[in-house]
Amino acid sequence: MTGELAINRGVTEEVLGGDYLFAEVARRVAEHTAARGEKPIDLGIGDVTLPLPACVAEALATASAGMGSVEGFRGYPPADGYDFLRRAISELYAEEGARVPAGDIFISDGAKTDLALIPHLFGRCTVYLADPTYPAYRDVNLAAGNGIRYLRADIGNDLLPLPDAACGRGIYYICTPGNPTGAAYDRARLAVWVEHALATGSLIVCDTAYSAFIPEDDTEHPRTIYSVPGAEKCALEVGSFSKSAGFTGLRCGFTVLPSELRIDGRPLRDIWRRYKAITSNGVAYPVQCAAAAALTPQGRAGCRENIKYYLGNARILRAALAARGIGSAPGEMSPYVWFRCPDGLSSWEFFDRLLDRAGIIGTPGSGFGAAGEGCFRFSAFCSRPAAMEAARRLREM
Ligand code: MLT
Repeated sequence: MTGELAINRGVTEEVLGGDYLFAEVARRVAEHTAARGEKPIDLGIGDVTLPLPACVAEALATASAGMGSVEGFRGYPPADGYDFLRRAISELYAEEGARVPAGDIFISDGAKTDLALIPHLFGRCTVYLADPTYPAYRDVNLAAGNGIRYLRADIGNDLLPLPDAACGRGIYYICTPGNPTGAAYDRARLAVWVEHALATGSLIVCDTAYSAFIPEDDTEHPRTIYSVPGAEKCALEVGSFSKSAGFTGLRCGFTVLPSELRIDGRPLRDIWRRYKAITSNGVAYPVQCAAAAALTPQGRAGCRENIKYYLGNARILRAALAARGIGSAPGEMSPYVWFRCPDGLSSWEFFDRLLDRAGIIGTPGSGFGAAGEGCFRFSAFCSRPAAMEAARRLREM
């Protein structure tokens, strides 16, 4: 016995190596901070900094206090989520002109947990990802042994890849507005994806974690794939309260699995429920009450204020880069600023230089995929003073 495991290594040449991108960034920052003894400005991971809107915090506190009383106590939550929250999300979809019944919505403790489950629903398959994209899509599929094909997002396609002749049957991941580039699919391009998925028998996984950043009066960029006819037959959608309502710490998200979605004659949601039952006991009642409060008119107004603040930070950071002659991708509806590193530096070289010379943490573009090499991402989820100080340092660096 050598202790060397000899289990199947999967169908893809690429393997899950190294650390998760944001863990790697955190490790390097910890080393830097220990050596220098000063805290850098954090424009790295997309973690919110503003407090919850007041009515959301109140709902959380009331439900939590209720757990200490006979009437207010709750045990295991319903496996699919509380109906009051599922109905509130369904109403939100109706406002987008999308018919998503409450019964199609499955509450989770965040998008990442659901994203990690998806590759296990189908057995081995081919997965198509934009490059660059959110690294969790790649990592969970590599861990499941799936083969991955990358579709380059570049200036030629406005950072919004569309299917090409070599795109066959498989699972297609779409994030709109996209992480890290901030590019958002318009209705016509999203319809191309739906058409392709229906024609090839493929599944689309649509991640709408940043859809709340699309301005209210924008009708060109859908906030849900279900506003495109036919999507209910080929797409599941993963939503999150993390960035829209400040739930990165509280944890709440949802996945939409329309009843029309079937695989080998079996409703996909039945397979989903089967897996969920063995991996989760649901989301705490106070957290679901808080999420529902975030969807009330008062809660939504508070969330919109927070989003405006972060978008303001993004504008400040973009202007500081522009002052140094560094153009960034058009990201008016994104909390991320995506740009090419100056002086032909690689992504990690620029990461080191920025940390050393300006005390600023960002995220190396190469961590989002090979096509992100030489690019960089700032998160605008920082405080306003931090954004302004970072802008000052960028101008002087
Ligand atoms: C990001 O910064 O891209 C995400 O918030 C990080 C994550 O969800 O892992």
